[in-house]
Amino acid sequence: MTERLATLTAHSPPGTEARALGPWFHNLHLPDGTQTAPTHPLGDFPNMKWEQIAAFVPPDLTGYTALDIGCNAGFYSFELARRGARVRALDIDRRYLEQAAWAAARYGLQDRIEFVEGSVYCLARTRERYDIVWFFGVLYHLRHPLLALDILRDVVKGQLFLQTLTSPGAGSASIPRNITLDERAEMTGEDWPRMAFIEHALENDPTNWWAPNGTCVDGMLRAAGFRVLAHPADEMVVAAPQTEESAVNSRLRRAELQAILDQ
Ligand SMILES: C[S@@+](CC[C@H](N)C(=O)[O-])C[C@H]1O[C@@H](n2cnc3c(N)ncnc32)[C@H](O)[C@@H]1O
Repeated sequence: MTERLATLTAHSPPGTEARALGPWFHNLHLPDGTQTAPTHPLGDFPNMKWEQIAAFVPPDLTGYTALDIGCNAGFYSFELARRGARVRALDIDRRYLEQAAWAAARYGLQDRIEFVEGSVYCLARTRERYDIVWFFGVLYHLRHPLLALDILRDVVKGQLFLQTLTSPGAGSASIPRNITLDERAEMTGEDWPRMAFIEHALENDPTNWWAPNGTCVDGMLRAAGFRVLAHPADEMVVAAPQTEESAVNSRLRRAELQAILDQ
């Protein structure tokens, strides 16, 4: 951050520092009136997403710990911190963390949020547990999304708030406990949990790897040992650790995780 801001003075006009840190993915409304991404193609992003889920987050988070994975410029970290949570904000991209740390200071929230550079997969080795894990806009960027959910199962103490890009056809069919080899045509049905693989790019972004349908998102969460609590809006899920996870599921999940941790 210091490099990109080094040439600015304390008397630079409003918005100058924000521009120096751009381009921004989050349209933050800063205290001086500056908006960091006012022409965002998705609108006032992610304010409009927050409005869809805000009512599902406890209004008073005093005493809560929160982990914001893929925090980007920190929009959700700021909202959680404003409600009283202590937030750890994680992202793989240092440029976004610089934006977030700078914006946190503008809002006076720097003492409530710790910004950390790292990947969701690094959490496999953490012993920390969080009351709230925020996991918005990251799942489909991962080459190994189910692994990420398996890891998060042991990181979430309270609730997981997840948002992901999906493919059309939410589907709500009851999932059969088993199908035979001869019944595989069922897997081509509209309601079957499905995750489309994107080999090259979606919206010109080569880091978009997977687009699950809604049934698939819920199924993956259950397979990772969560129970689905609510769907606040399209592409959003609130989940909590399943305390009565089946022994088979738990064993399969932990076996793969352990294989990775043993490396
Ligand atoms: C589409 S943006 C979503 C940002 C924010 N969570 C939101 O919903 O507005 C994806 C963010 O996830 C970060 N990211 C991508 N892969 C990651 C990984 N493996 N671990 C942590 N963060 C990751 C990116 O750097 C980027 O900031």
